[in-house]
Formats: sequence, structure tokens, C-alpha cells
Amino acid sequence: MCGIIGILGGEAAAPRLVDALKRLEYRGYDSAGIATLEAGGMARRRAAGKIRNLEAELNGNPLAGVSGIGHTRWATHGAPTENNAHPHATDKVAIVHNGIIENFRALRDELMKAGRKFESETDSEVIAHLISAGLDAGLNPEQATITAVRRLEGAFAIACLFAGHEDTLIGARKGSPLVVGLGDNETFLGSDAIAVSPFTTRVIYLEEGDTAILSRTKTKIIDAKDQVVERPVTVFSGGAAAVEKGNHRHFMQKEIYEQPETTGRTIARYVNAFDEKVEMPDLDGVDLAADSAILIGCGTAHYAGRVAEYWLEQIAGITVETDIASEFRYRKPAFGKKAFSVFVSQSGETADTLAALRYCKEQGLKTLAVVNVPESTIWRESDARLPTLAGPEIGVASTKAFTAQLSALAALTIAVGRAKGTLSSQEEGQLVRALMETPRLIADALAAEPEIEKIALELSHARDVLYLGRGVHYPVALEGALKLKEISYIHAEGYAAGELKHGPIALIDEETPVVVVAPHDALFEKTLSNMQEVAARGGKIVLITDEAGAATSGGIAKHIILAPACDSFVAPLVYSVPIQLLAYFTAVHKGTDVDQPRNLAKSVTVE
Ligand code: G6P
Repeated sequence: MCGIIGILGGEAAAPRLVDALKRLEYRGYDSAGIATLEAGGMARRRAAGKIRNLEAELNGNPLAGVSGIGHTRWATHGAPTENNAHPHATDKVAIVHNGIIENFRALRDELMKAGRKFESETDSEVIAHLISAGLDAGLNPEQATITAVRRLEGAFAIACLFAGHEDTLIGARKGSPLVVGLGDNETFLGSDAIAVSPFTTRVIYLEEGDTAILSRTKTKIIDAKDQVVERPVTVFSGGAAAVEKGNHRHFMQKEIYEQPETTGRTIARYVNAFDEKVEMPDLDGVDLAADSAILIGCGTAHYAGRVAEYWLEQIAGITVETDIASEFRYRKPAFGKKAFSVFVSQSGETADTLAALRYCKEQGLKTLAVVNVPESTIWRESDARLPTLAGPEIGVASTKAFTAQLSALAALTIAVGRAKGTLSSQEEGQLVRALMETPRLIADALAAEPEIEKIALELSHARDVLYLGRGVHYPVALEGALKLKEISYIHAEGYAAGELKHGPIALIDEETPVVVVAPHDALFEKTLSNMQEVAARGGKIVLITDEAGAATSGGIAKHIILAPACDSFVAPLVYSVPIQLLAYFTAVHKGTDVDQPRNLAKSVTVE
């Protein structure tokens, strides 16, 4: 999980950059580097491995200067080598970057044709060359950065340092977070408030699409529409920044908004963007060419498994069984001989999931953990593990852990498809490209917040809410209903849209909102028929769909929440966002304890 620090300071920058990077160690990384503005120009030091390796490098070969940028890198595109470590630099600019640049191949080709030489295997290096090209064309650092940023597709946060510009530091964000720190005659950039906490407690949380042009005494922020804007200054209590809400009202909201970054990180862990392939680590004997898979979890983690069930069957053609751990462990399930088992858990400590894991091991099945907390019990006891890189999740209702689980399971699906020979390399490339677009699409989906907040006000008066979905969106509907009941205490049920007429339709009246999760995909027309059944009985439909779905739905829905058009493979990740926001704002309107809902625990270590 990458970290960013930038300093326009009044004292030696290198030790301060290293100090800040140490505070970012908690995010996980496998190389680190810094660049400073020295009297003779810009210079950088980088090292693979731990920050102490960078410190050793700096001891032998120190860096002068009072301004600089630094980065801890969790390898995504390209191995964790010194050459791939950030900052990436030309003679004019050095940059550090978090996130994924989706269109880096096209930009790299274009820049190489124009004679620019690349040194690394990263997507990030295109940013340095793109800004440099602007500077060479006569633009100033602000213009060159904004021009470059407007051409980047994907989710990212960057910090840039310019040779010959002693009093300029520029940061930009889209999808990944970035904060500005305000000191006394000093300014800072950080990937979170913890990064700048050694230097100041006054921070500005940049918003989507913002570019911040900093001098030591001035902060100019330009928004996505090229307007100069003011953003509020927040004071945080330095030490506790890891568990602060930033400018969000609740942890749940913060965690919903972290998803472009957390899914990006998880996807990047498993995707080789250059070759457009999935790369799974050594799975320690887990045979992905097996005939069947068993996916076990509880609550939200179980629903992530249910989504993966559709993926694995449709894409990899294997038989899949999913179950909740508390049932699975006692029902003496029978397995085929060539099966592997997957245990999905945010905490890695859920008692029932752990018991199911132990049961499978006793039966001689290979076990694979999709877990968020490293070194947790499920992590340690599994044969192999696919970490989800959501970072600490504080809100009891799981959000970013869910989409990180989906990210890892989507990558697993592609790996199984390849192992089974059901995916050509072309098809694999297409799915990988779709995955790489997901963080940006999630950021786009977040833009529906104002509309969702209004609809949630109406939902907050309901006694019962139905959620409907078909195919892979059926488990998304189940998760939507779970989120709503967990935090708003409104009774909610998720149903397969086609099952509606076999019972739940009896519940429909003018008082019962029906939330329908239905992108305009191959099953949309079928779901539309179910919506007609609801509408004919006076039910109020809240339709979550894309532009094409909205245009086809013929005014049947009372409310439409627009989600971005996307590849149907990744739609469950993108459509998770509106259902989370809908539950969140409904609970906020009701005034419940969003982050710690009654009776619920984050980690359930009892049966
Ligand atoms: C609890 C939490 C849920 C979570 C479930 C499984 O019920 O409140 O949010 O989905 O446990 O937890 P796990 O840590 O195994 O994912």
C-alpha cells in the first residue's frame, strides 16, 4: 500500500522525509525512495526493501536540500526493485504516485515515439514524462501538471517536485486520497494525515479532481472544472490520525470513499498491467485446475463468495459450492476429490469460518484464505492466502473489505479460468483491463452521493425494504439488504428478482420501497418484467442502473440512481457503492449509531 510525503520546508528535508515514510510503514511496502532539490539540481535515492535500506543508502550518499518528496511503494506494475521505486524523474520533474494509470500503455507509446526514454516497468513513470513534455513546450509547473493530469485515466494521487523551482510543490488527486499540511512557512503533501503528522496538525483534505499548487506560504487549489476553490482546514490530533475520520462524518463514510484506493491496491497486487495477466503468488499446492471450489464465509464475506460463485462458474466453468460457515461446518458436506476451498474473512478470526477451515483441512482439502488482517488465525492456518489490501476497517458494517474481497476473488477467477483453459489470453486481457478500470468507475459511482442522500430520506421512513437483483447482482442485493438492516435497523430482505412472485410479492404495497440492482446487461429485460410486477402493485421502485438501463426502464422507477456504464464482469464492485451509500444515508437520516450499530460486533470470535 503506497504512501506519499512532500515537503516544502525550512530545514534539511531528507531526514524529515524518512521520518514521515516510517509513519507510513503500517500501510505495507516493498521499496522506498526520496528526491530533494539540492543546490545543483534535483537528486534522488531509492532502495528495494525496508526503509532502513534507504537510510543506509542515504548515510553513504546523503541528500541536501530543504524540499523534497518521498514514497513507500507496494509493487504493482513491475517488481519491487530500486529501478521501479519512486520517485520517478526526468531532469525537470520528480514525481511520486499512488494508484493505477489505466491508459499508461498508450501514453508510454506516444512519449517513446516522441523520443523519451523510460527507465522503469511502472505505469507511474509516464506521469514524469508527460509533465516534462509540457515543461519542454514552455508551460510552467502548474500548467504542465494540470495538462498532464487531465490526460491520465484511472485513480491516482501524485506529488511533484520541479528542478529550478525552490518554492513549488504540486499535488493532484483523483480516486486516491491526498492531504495538504500547513505549517509555519512550510507546506506539506501526504497520502494521509499520518504522513504529515510529525510536522503539523493543520490539514486540508483535497477533493476529487483537485490539484494543489503549494508555495511555503500559499496554497492554491484548482478543482476538476479548472476553478480556483477554497477547501476547509481541519485540525487533527496527530498521533491518532490512523483512526481519524478525516473530513468524513463516520468511519463508514470514510471507508466507502476509500474504495477507489483499496480496490486499486488489491487489484494491482494480482494484475500484471504490462502483460494484461493475473499473477497469483505461490499457492502452496492449491491446484487451481481443480474441478470444483468451496467458498465459505459469514455475513458480508459470504456474499462476496456468492458473487464469486457466479464468476467461477461462468468464466472458469467449475462447480462451486458456497455456504455460510455456521451451516457448512455442521452439515457434513461431501466433496469431490479434486476441489479446493476458499475462506473469505475480513478479520481472519471469525469462529465459524475458522472451524469450517479446520474441517476442510481434516478432510484433506487444500485451503486458500481471502483475508484482510495479516497474520490472523485464518491467514496463518490456511495453506495459501490471497490478501485483501483494504487496510484497517473500523466501521462495523463492512464496505471496503467487501469490494477488496471481490477484487481478490475476481483475480482468482481469472487465474482459475487460465488454469482450466477456459480463457484465451485475449479474453484474460479483456477481463484484466476491466478490473484495472474498476477503481476509476468506483470513484465515478461515488458522484451519485447527493441524489442518494435525498432518496435515503424517503427510505428512512420505511418499515420494510425489498432488494432485488438477478444473476451476479442477486448477492449484491443481499448485501444491500444486509447493509440497510445492520445500520438503520429497518427490516430489509434481498431476493432474486425472479423469485419475487413466489412469496415476497405479497409484501408489496405503497409503503414498501423496492431497491432494484440492475445494470443494462443481458438480464436487464427479465428484471424489468419483475419491476413491472412491483409497479402494478403500487410498489415504489428505486432503480440502480446505468444510462442505458435508465433509458430503457420507461419511467417505471420512482427514483433512479445512476451508476457508470461498465463491463458486466466488474459491475458487482461498481454497484456495491450505491447500495452502501443508500444504507449509510438512511441510517444518518434515522440518527442511528452508524459505526457501532447495536448488537453487532466487528469480529465474531464465538460460535
Ligand atoms: C460480523 C461483522 C460483519 C462481517 C462478518 C464476517 O458479523 O459484523 O461485517 O461480514 O462478521 O466477518 P469476517 O471478519 O469473517 O469477514
